Amino acid sequence: MTRRLEDLTSPYLSGLIPYVPGKPTEEVERELGISGSVKLASNENPLGPSPKALAALQAALPELHRYPDGPGFRLCQALARHWGVAADMLVLGNGSNELLELVGRAFLVPGDEVVYAEQAFVVYEMVAQTSGATRVRVPLKDFTHDLDGLRRAITPKTKLVFLANPNNPTGTAVPPQALETFLADVPPEVVVVLDEAYYEYLPEGERPDALRFVREGRWLLVLRTFSKIYGLAGLRLGYGMGPAPLTAILHRLRAPFNTNALAQAGAIAALTDTEHVARSRAVNEAGRRLLTEGLARLGLRVVPNVANFVLVDVGRSGAATSDALLRRGVIVRPVAGYGFPNHLRITIGTPEENTRCLAALAALLGKENPG
Ligand SMILES: Cc1ncc(COP(=O)(O)O)c(C=O)c1O
Repeated sequence: MTRRLEDLTSPYLSGLIPYVPGKPTEEVERELGISGSVKLASNENPLGPSPKALAALQAALPELHRYPDGPGFRLCQALARHWGVAADMLVLGNGSNELLELVGRAFLVPGDEVVYAEQAFVVYEMVAQTSGATRVRVPLKDFTHDLDGLRRAITPKTKLVFLANPNNPTGTAVPPQALETFLADVPPEVVVVLDEAYYEYLPEGERPDALRFVREGRWLLVLRTFSKIYGLAGLRLGYGMGPAPLTAILHRLRAPFNTNALAQAGAIAALTDTEHVARSRAVNEAGRRLLTEGLARLGLRVVPNVANFVLVDVGRSGAATSDALLRRGVIVRPVAGYGFPNHLRITIGTPEENTRCLAALAALLGKENPG
């Protein structure tokens, strides 16, 4: 009797839909025989990496024959100073994505319940599914997290709550006070993962102080990343901040050298480049205005947002619209998989990229270029 490979595979992997990333520009150009396309599909920083990070990467190159510092001592020290937490409250990941997976492996066994929003970052679903946990999904309310609904969904079987704020793919955030009340309300025996990948895009007065709960020892892991405003998505460096007993579990589980030497060096430098961060935020604010107003002139409604992307109702198939834009060299993200078949998620780009996107959409919809 021959065994099939599927018979050996974990039963929790059947039905797993692989993550579909935004298409790289080279791939699109090769497939369609076009050039000069723009990618507004993966919420990357259109300004690129911080010049300070690039210099640090260059300086780190001659040491690449050495293994990296496993836990990333220097970067953890720098992050601890930056956020006012102890260094042992930090854990680094190969992108915050890796930390989401480590949390799943650390805490979930079949039968556990994991609570998250129905329209939330797709990796939560993958983590819950592959661990055999029961997925408890709470619909958004008006494109925003329903915190009361999430709270009500927590039962004695709930081990984990995943919450992205701002949320992907909607770009919405909950008011800081509401989030803090939620964190205070969640039973202390539940681990909360607060995914703040887009935290730095929040206006100053609208940033919740979740780290207060971490310092108090709550089982809360706050995730941040260098992939978004810091412009280092290609390096893969995310980090978690949680009470030391929680981060210690993830340290035990992670691969010995899970983050690489260049990523650590680049991140340390990027953290100090406040000018690049400020400029990135300003370009994003201006781009959001330009895109929102331009899309409105095309008769399209944008979900009010606070991130570096907009979710827009195109009033027709998002997938077909995305394909048509692709052929015009504009790569955006269809979001039918998130339950938004008529929406597109468009990353806010440089002024030129935003204008190009608007012009392509206008041509497609047979409307006047909003300019
Ligand atoms: C909400 C959210 N969390 C986490 C990530 C993963 O980011 P990274 O693994 O690059 O740190 C993303 C990436 O798009 C995201 O949108």
